[in-house]
Amino acid sequence: MADEARRALVTYGRRLYEKGFVAASDGNLSVRLPGGGFLVTPTGLPKGELSEGVMVHLNSEGHPTAGQPSSEWPMHTAIYEARADVSVVVHAHPPFATALACAGRGIVRPVLSEVVISLGTVPLAPFELPSTKSLAQGVASALGGNAAVLLANH
Ligand code: 13P
Repeated sequence: MADEARRALVTYGRRLYEKGFVAASDGNLSVRLPGGGFLVTPTGLPKGELSEGVMVHLNSEGHPTAGQPSSEWPMHTAIYEARADVSVVVHAHPPFATALACAGRGIVRPVLSEVVISLGTVPLAPFELPSTKSLAQGVASALGGNAAVLLANH
């Protein structure tokens, strides 16, 4: 399973990069492991240049066991703690979503049928500095039972 998770992180990291959903070393992805803990992308690496060996393991308390995990690991930990049904967390900066987040608007009205069908409501988490525990708590709380959340001014 861990090998499969590593391959998936490489594949989807590359896909985010190719689609322009992350610039430079933006974004981070993680996969929950069935035995406890999760694997996350390392900090500061472009998501188009990931390889299976660079992923960082976090234990079942959500703390890194070695290496330099994404600086947003507290957010990944907070989401896994709040949502037992979530097995993957993807944090990206797609331009249109980022524009909405900077305009202070979640996607809370049923405007586009495809979004309603595939995503449902996408709430807006209040602004907090990147990589902080307060951002992690705000995101997990705003996410609630939804599939996605926007981070204000992020
Ligand atoms: P990391 O490189 O530490 O994962 O940070 C990227 C990012 O997008 C921070 O919000």
